[in-house]
Amino acid sequence: ELGQTAPKIVKRRQLTDEIVEFTITSPLIARSAKAGQFVRVLADEKGELIPLTLADWDAEAGTIELVVQGLGTSSKLINQMQEGDSFAAIAGPLGQASHVVKHPDNQRVIFTAGGVGLPAVHPIMRAHLAIGNKVTLISGFRGKAHRFWTEQGDKVENLRDAYPELLDVVYTSNDGSFGIEGFVTKPLESLLIQHRDGNADTANRSETDTASTEQAIAEVITIGPPMMMRAVSDQTLGYEVPCVASLNSIMVDATGMCGACMVPVMEDGKLVRKHACIDGPEINSHVIDWDKFLPRFNQFKPQERQSEIAHHF
Ligand code: FES
Repeated sequence: ELGQTAPKIVKRRQLTDEIVEFTITSPLIARSAKAGQFVRVLADEKGELIPLTLADWDAEAGTIELVVQGLGTSSKLINQMQEGDSFAAIAGPLGQASHVVKHPDNQRVIFTAGGVGLPAVHPIMRAHLAIGNKVTLISGFRGKAHRFWTEQGDKVENLRDAYPELLDVVYTSNDGSFGIEGFVTKPLESLLIQHRDGNADTANRSETDTASTEQAIAEVITIGPPMMMRAVSDQTLGYEVPCVASLNSIMVDATGMCGACMVPVMEDGKLVRKHACIDGPEINSHVIDWDKFLPRFNQFKPQERQSEIAHHF
C-alpha cells in the first residue's frame, strides 16, 4: 500500500507447529477485498514476495488476516515475526474474485480444503453462505496435531454456528487421528455418488412431483496441495460436476509478465496458457492439463514444493 504506513502485525496466533495466523493493519486492502483474492507479502526488503490468499478481513478495523505455513525460507521468516513487527510491503487485493452466485435450494456447493487451503476457502464459503447457498466443507489435515480453526469458538465452528441450516462440515485426516481417516476425496466420493443417484431419481420422477433431492452438487471448489486438487478434479470430472481449483502457489511478479504461474489449459482442443495471477487464482480444473501442470510445482523452488506435496500424499 503505497503512501500508507507499513502493515503492522496487531495479532499473532500460532495455530500449529508450522502454521501461524496474522492479523495485520492494512486498511485499503481490508476495504476492497473480495472473496477469493490474494495479496503479495514482503517480509523485509531482502526477502521474496509470496502470494497468500486472504483468510479474512475486517473493513471497519482496517485489518486483514493471513495464515502462513512455514515451508520455505521466506514463509519461515514471516512466521518468526511477532506482534508489533511490520512487513516491508503488502500489495493487493490481487486476482479475480470468486464467482459467487445463488444456486437452487436443492443444490450444494462443496469445498475441499487441504491443510492451509482451509483459510483460503474461508471467505469464499462465507460469501456463499451469506447469499443462502448450502455448503459442505470437507477439510483435510495430516493429523490431529496439524489441524486448526476446528475448535468450538474458532473460525469454522463460528461459521457453522452462524449458518446451522446451511453449512455441513466434514473433517478428514491422513492418519485417522481426527475426523474420517483418509483424504478429502473419500467423503467427496460419497457425496458424488449421492449426487449421481439423486439425479437419476429426479429423472425418473413425474413432472408434478416437486420433491427433489437435497444432495445435488452445484459445484466443487478445491484449494490445497496440487496432488489433492488434481485428484478432486479427476473425481468430479467422472461425475460431470463442475470444479474450480485455486492456484496461487507458484507466482513471482503476479502481473502476468514473468510466466511463473502459467497454467496449461485446453480450450477448443487447443493448448492455451493461462496465468493464475491475473486469470485466476480460480481456474476451471477440468480444462487444466494436469500432466503438464504438476511438474511445474517441482521445477519451481523444488525444496518447498516437494515438501508440500509429500506432506499430503
Ligand atoms: Fe508472473 Fe503470474 S506470477 S505471470
